[in-house]
Order: sequence, then C-alpha cells, then structure tokens
Amino acid sequence: MTSTSETLTETVARADDLSPGTMRMVAVGGHPVALVATEDGAIHALDNACPHQGYGLVTGTLQSGTTGGTVTCQWHNWKFDVATGRCLMGEEDVTCHPVAVLDGEVQVTVHRPSAAETRERLWPSLRRGLAADYMGQVARDTVRLLDAGATPAGIMADTVRARAAHTDGGVGHDMAMAADCLARAEGAEGDDRVLPLVQGLSGWAEETRDRPALPVPAPDASIDLPAAIETEDETGALASVRGQLAAGAGPDELRHQLLVAASAHHLSYGHGIIYTQKAFELLDRIGWDAAPDLLPHLARTLVRATREDTLPYMRPAVRALAGVDLDGLAAAPGPEATGWSAAGDPGAKLTAELLGATEAPIARAAAAVTDGAGIDGLLDAVVDAVSLRLLSHDVALEHDHGDGFGWLDITHGLTMAEAARWAWRADPGPHTARLALWATWLGFDTGRAERRRGGTPLLSVDRLALRASTDVRAELGAAIEDRRASEAVALALGSDPAEVGEALAEAALADGAGSFIVVAHLVKTVEAARRESGRRATSLPLAGAARYLASPRRERFVARNVADSLAFLRTGRPPRR
Ligand code: FES
Repeated sequence: MTSTSETLTETVARADDLSPGTMRMVAVGGHPVALVATEDGAIHALDNACPHQGYGLVTGTLQSGTTGGTVTCQWHNWKFDVATGRCLMGEEDVTCHPVAVLDGEVQVTVHRPSAAETRERLWPSLRRGLAADYMGQVARDTVRLLDAGATPAGIMADTVRARAAHTDGGVGHDMAMAADCLARAEGAEGDDRVLPLVQGLSGWAEETRDRPALPVPAPDASIDLPAAIETEDETGALASVRGQLAAGAGPDELRHQLLVAASAHHLSYGHGIIYTQKAFELLDRIGWDAAPDLLPHLARTLVRATREDTLPYMRPAVRALAGVDLDGLAAAPGPEATGWSAAGDPGAKLTAELLGATEAPIARAAAAVTDGAGIDGLLDAVVDAVSLRLLSHDVALEHDHGDGFGWLDITHGLTMAEAARWAWRADPGPHTARLALWATWLGFDTGRAERRRGGTPLLSVDRLALRASTDVRAELGAAIEDRRASEAVALALGSDPAEVGEALAEAALADGAGSFIVVAHLVKTVEAARRESGRRATSLPLAGAARYLASPRRERFVARNVADSLAFLRTGRPPRR
C-alpha cells in the first residue's frame, strides 16, 4: 500500500456494446471491475471481487428494472445495489467507481487510496462489523488495517472506544481476553499477528452485540471512588473515575484506588482482581488516553460484582482474616530477602498444608508470610497447590450436571493468584496483602469437590511421567487436539518451558473450544501459567494448564442450566456447590 493515492481513468468499452441487463469484467490499471448495464440504460462499475471472499461478481446474477438493479454473488448469496455498492444482504458494501460515457465510450475511474485514506475508510467498517458480530468482516478489516499500517494496539484501542460502553454491566472476559490476546499479537510479526488480535476482538463483538451503550454520568472528581464502589453507588463511581481522569489523574493513582476497592471483598469468584489486572495491562499497551473509555466500565464491574465474602461458606475465612494484621503482612520481607523457596523445605510443606487443609487456611497463610515466605512466597505455594489440583481434577465431574464444580472452579485459583501477585507488586500494602489472602481462600476452595469425596490430593509431580520433546509445539498441540491429557502433561513437564508455553498459547487460540467464554478461560489460564512458570523454575502451572486444555470440559452450559432450572423449579433446591 502506497503513502499517496492514485487515480486512473481508462476507456473500458463502447456503450452500444453493452446489452441492458448484463455484466462483464473489465480492468482499469489491472484492477478488475464489474461493468454493469441495467435495464434503465445506466452503466455502473463495481469492484469485481466480492467483499466476502473475493469471488467474481460477474459470475453472479443481475436483476435490474426501470430503477437501478441488484447484483447477487452466487457463492453465498450476498446482494449489492449496483448504483451505490450498498450491501443489501450480507455484511459489507462493495466499492463503486465513477463511470462516464464520452462520445459513446465508457470510461471508468478507479481511485487507489493512500494508506491513510484506507485506514479512515476502514475504521467505521470495523466498528460496524464488531457491533453486528460479523466475524468475517472483523477479520477482513483487521487484515486490511494492518496492511494499511495500523498497529494491533491501535486496532484494539479503537475497539475499546467503540465497544466498552456496550458491555453487559461493565467490562469482563471481553476485556480480559483482549489484554492477553493483544500481548500475543504484539509479540508476533506479519500475518501471525492476525489470529491473536482477532480472537481478542471477537470477545468484544460477541459480548456486546446488539447492546446499547450504557449511560455515563458527568465527571465529578470530588467523589471518593473506593467509597462509592463500596456503597454500590454506580453513578458516583463512574463520575469519580471520569472526573479524576479529566483532572489529570495517572495510572498509579487510579490503580491504587481501584485496588483498594477490588480488595475490600472477595469479588465474583476472583474476577474483581483479575479484571482490574487485565484493564491496566490493556491500558499499558493501548495507551493511557484510552482510560476514559475503559476505566469507568471497570468501576461499574466492581460495583456490580458479587461479594462472595458475604456468603455463608466464606464466614470462617472472613472471621480468620479479621484477626490478621494486614499491615504486618505488608511489611514482612519477601522470599528474596529471607531465602524462602517454594521448592525448598518450608515452601513444599506450606503447599502440602494448603492442599490438605480442611478449613480455610487463612491463619496458616498469614503465619507463613511473616515466617519468611512474604506475600510472593505465599502466592508461590497457592499457585503450586492449585496447579496440582489441575493435575488431579476428576474430569468425570465435567459431565455431572448435578454438581456445580468443574474446571473453571480450579483455573480461577491460578488466574486469581497471578492477578494478586500483579496487584501486590504494582501497589504493595495492606489492601493487596488482603488480596493474597483472598487468593489463598480461593486456592482452598479449588479442593471442595475433592474434600467432599474424601479424595486424596495429588501431592507431588513425582507420580507423573515426564517426556522431553524437541518439537514440543507440534507434539503438544496434537496431544491437546486429540485429548491425550496424560501425554500433554508429560510433554509439558519434560520439555523446554518456553516452548511449552508457546504451544499452549497457540492451542488456546486455535478454536478448540466451542464458545467464547471457554476460549477466554483457556487463554487467561495459559497466560497465568506461562507467567507463573516463567518467574521461577517450575513447569507445574504449565502442566496443569496442559491437562486442562487436553481434557474434556463443558463448552456451552445449556445442559447445565437446564439441570439447574429443573432442580430449582421442581424441587426448590439451589445448585449444589
Ligand atoms: S464470495 Fe460473494 S457472497 Fe461469498
């Protein structure tokens, strides 16, 4: 694509050679054009390549009468108005070219736009595709925009501006997956950027389709943001974020306030902190100037989140947490200072204790922090415990619709622990120390089905086979595709962790799951496993993620909702946790 535009005019036919109601293909400067003569005596010129998949429009059919006409592409029945190029059935308009008849000769003018003109034309087209959830149009426009010099971050920023206000009560997995996918797209080159980027756009499209934009209040920087979120004052929370941003507040200021709010409760089964982490990671990539389009909707998410700590089963943990000196925890030295190691004696012992706990191990976790683990050492033990649970999850539960426990109850233990670590490192203090304890509780909760069955947790990877591969991307990808879970785990444990991480990320993006929400969980679980394995010498999180990807899992949740509805409406019983 050139930086300057170009306009070409060529004579392509004699007017009296064109029979009304016919089409023929001509070329202008090598550009294929469908020349259309309608029954009303007009002549039109359209791009011959159908905007859907590029088949020739002249191989389609023309219907014309006394007022214009319609061309139908036979391949998938898209229809276009020949005078305007407007798509009458299908997803995208086709480009029209000016036609002039001089002395009986038909001249067609083709304008080859510059890269900048092309981008200006494509932004609204991409937004329309996202709003209608036309994934083909989104993919095509993404490729065209990248070809015209747009960046993955620029495409994602435009999408955030267009779609974040349309989310269902605040940003969620759409935004979380966008952050992880954009990171992968930015780490790739050329056409390898397209799949992760479009997967990242797909969540916005699927989750916001046909939803109106939610209203946003006028900015008001005088409102205390954490207090507004705590009192579920949604209007006040949004006004505060908007007001502070308008007054020049930066990432550190807003992140601190939102972390204070996100750590006040155990929110939505770990999602409060996961979404906060992903929002700030996304802004790191698309730029802080997109914050006014994103952060008000994160505040809305936090206002509307379920406060899981108010539920009866969390009461023991909440009582234990109330007795913890959070300031003392925040001041405790980390494992770098104390020499604490997750694989060493006290670290492995703590992991085993977390796995074997029959009550929420909040006091034990707090003691470990001050005994040398620090917050990071505690989170290491939580990550290892959850990873072992991923490796020993009874997959039969996935098909037991009477049981509310499944893969996602465990994967969130990993993604929340990783998010709590991000929060602790970004903004250490008593509030993020509390998040680490909430993460410990969620790690404990990943064992609830196991405890109910009186099962024995897998306490060591020594019981698992290891297999090294020099082509782990192909072999692990195939094992996941074929649902050979044991082989996938062996490869993940025995091969180069960086290559394993790449193979898992590719598998997560390869549409091996049937619904957006499952793809979103595959992506974020793999990303958390890659980061946790990368920061210390362990393949355990990667192996857990490999087993999750390679195992059977619920994909659509229709049958589960039917089972829950029947149980509730016929017997009055809520779902079993
Ligand atoms: S290629 Fe024309 S409708 Fe599909």
